[in-house]
Amino acid sequence: MTTLLLASASPARLSTLRSAGIEPLVRVSGVDEDAVLAEAEAATEGRLHPADAVLALARAKADAVVASLGSDAPDAHGNPLPEDLLVLGCDSLLELDGRALGKPSDAADAAARWRRMRGRSGVLHTGHWLVDTRDGATGATGATASTAVHFADLTDDEIDAYVATGEPLAVAGAFTIDGLGGPFVARLEGDHHTVVGLSLPLLRDLLASIGVPVTTLWATGTAPDGDDERSTGVQWYGSRLVLRSMGAEHARSLADYRSDPEVARHQRWDPPYTLDQARAFVATTAGLDPLVPGRWVHLAIEAHGEHVGDIGVRGDDEGRQARVEVTIARPWQQAGLATEALTTVLRRLFAAGAHRVEARCDTDDIAAIRLLERVGMRREAELWSAAFRHGEWIDCYSYALLASEWRA
Ligand SMILES: CC(C)(COP(=O)(O)OP(=O)(O)OC[C@H]1O[C@@H](n2cnc3c(N)ncnc32)[C@H](O)[C@@H]1OP(=O)(O)O)[C@@H](O)C(=O)NCCC(=O)NCCS
Repeated sequence: MTTLLLASASPARLSTLRSAGIEPLVRVSGVDEDAVLAEAEAATEGRLHPADAVLALARAKADAVVASLGSDAPDAHGNPLPEDLLVLGCDSLLELDGRALGKPSDAADAAARWRRMRGRSGVLHTGHWLVDTRDGATGATGATASTAVHFADLTDDEIDAYVATGEPLAVAGAFTIDGLGGPFVARLEGDHHTVVGLSLPLLRDLLASIGVPVTTLWATGTAPDGDDERSTGVQWYGSRLVLRSMGAEHARSLADYRSDPEVARHQRWDPPYTLDQARAFVATTAGLDPLVPGRWVHLAIEAHGEHVGDIGVRGDDEGRQARVEVTIARPWQQAGLATEALTTVLRRLFAAGAHRVEARCDTDDIAAIRLLERVGMRREAELWSAAFRHGEWIDCYSYALLASEWRA
């Protein structure tokens, strides 16, 4: 059976495919995008059009992933990869005033861009490169889809509020159409999916050109216990991850990583953590909005198409204060995902009016201490014998961050 492999870390592209009934494998290429662009610029003697730039980047990503595939390379669960793979690379840029704009470098850059973009129009280009590895072949085809985007005339306050959410920092062109940025896109001319980062009609055409009807990629069948039902509710995007309301589909992976003694060491549960415990836990948190105070709400952290951990938020004082806690499954640690998940949540909480956010960790939890300090949290107290871990009371640190410190 032919399987699509998405050579992109973008959670929005993965979501687009899933919403169209395609469940791809995901591999991230790690190509040096600046080097690819420099080479393409040199080849065109400095006249590289943004539509060609995204195609060159999409091609580089797909080719790099294909090059990394051995016939026996396992997927994330240790299973061998299917042989009939189609590898799809994608890349997006916004063309404005003849310039190609990727992700903004920082909040000031995002705000400056929006001041240029508001009330005006740009073109969002998404390059697609499809490599056919079936039967040992390496044929390839690609094209760019381009959609004109007419931006609303945002007020300065709207720009500041939007930039403060962090969303524009994570995406090419500094806006989304399927997230918080939706109200700021007045009109499109062209395919809406191109703006999200993967044109489904263009994908259909590329597949047809190699004799694969898109309908053959529709995922079929359901897991016997219904774990494939995708949760709805919150979807907060970072650049490499999405934080999503937990649903039944997260229970199995939650049980797996919570059963890891290393992950459980500084947590309140004792391993092993059974599937029944995981299902009961998911049921208590599913569909809740973490911005509504009063109880712990855990969001699944998804990256590279996998459920890699979770982040808990407990709001208090009518949302003016919150506690947060993060867990990442061992294979995904030390990759910056906890840092990105926590930063995404802090941005959301402060943008929603939080005054103070707190986190606690065991005094010997070095990874958590480094994480909290990396995102700018300040150690403000040592709490003696304040947490019960695996049969004994242990000391914790309390870390906090005020909205004024975050803004500074
Ligand atoms: C605490 C915990 C979430 C931290 O996870 P982590 O994987 O260490 O954190 P990150 O993903 O942000 O990784 C940071 C490390 O990755 C490295 N890294 C690699 N790529 C990175 C990137 N793109 N961005 C940031 N850091 C990156 C950093 O240099 C850093 O290394 P360092 O700690 O040696 O300085 C994790 O250890 C865990 O789940 N522990 C069990 C649960 C727990 O104790 N939770 C605490 C409750 S608050």
